[in-house]
This record gives sequence, C-alpha cells and structure tokens, in this order.
Amino acid sequence: MALREIRELGEDCLTKVCKPVKELTPRLKTLIEDMYDTMYEAEGVGLAAPQVGVLRRIVVIDVGEGPVTLINPEILETSGEQTGNEGCLSVPGKTGIVTRPNYAKVKALNENMEEFIVEGTELMARALCHEIDHLNGVMYTTKVEGELYNVEDLVEEIEDED
Ligand code: NI
Repeated sequence: MALREIRELGEDCLTKVCKPVKELTPRLKTLIEDMYDTMYEAEGVGLAAPQVGVLRRIVVIDVGEGPVTLINPEILETSGEQTGNEGCLSVPGKTGIVTRPNYAKVKALNENMEEFIVEGTELMARALCHEIDHLNGVMYTTKVEGELYNVEDLVEEIEDED
C-alpha cells in the first residue's frame, strides 16, 4: 500500500488540462493502485490523477458499489438535475452546494485499455462529473452556489435538527 500526497486547492496541478493515456505503463498501473489506496485512506468516493500531481486522464471512483477505474473518460450523455452538497479531497473540511446532472453515461478505457461504458445516477453521476471536471482543471469550488462552508458546521446543523 502506497499513499500519495493529495494536492490542495491553490496548487497549479489542479487547474491544468490533463493529457490522455496512450499506453498503460507499469508506472501508471502503480499510480492507479496508489490512487485507490489514497482515496480509501482519505475516505473519499473519487480521486483524479491531478489530485496526486499527475497530469494524466485517469480517475478512480468507488461510491460504495465497488471500484471503477476510468482512463481517458468521456461523457456521452447526461440528463436531469440534482442539487446538493459536494466535497473534494483537495479541499479538506469544506463543502458547498453544486447542481449536477442526475444521470451520466461515460465511455472510458479500463485497466486493460478496453473500452467500456459506465452509467450512474445520483451520487455516481455526481462523482463521474466531478472527477472528469478534475481532468479538465475544473474544481467544484468554481461551481458552488453560494458559500463554501465547513463540514463541521453542516454536521452541527443536522444534529440541531434532531
Ligand atoms: Ni475532487
């Protein structure tokens, strides 16, 4: 198990357009393993390569339905709308309201460089859109409606309602 340093908002690597993967080298395979280790350790549901400082079009996602590796992902179709809280491992402790499609269909390559289609609704659709944004240098903070606030404050609000 190898953890990589998660880069935080303000670092250049988070606002660059990432390059496509042409060949899955041993180095990139190790990167993918490390991305899973890093994401699970941080209790995230998705991580994009630029978040660990590698400007390649690679994403890992696990919203609780098992790991999905996406290489060179492309959004084919979206529909509907969902508005809700979003966070990012590169913006620790913060959350904000973002409107995303409620459904997304994505084409990508798997770890054998074979094309596959993944579709998702709700959290999976949100994760697909959020992570693919990272590959284009787009942070969710540019899409937040209103203020970014502390996750702790959100937890207190929920406790107050009980
Ligand atoms: Ni993120």
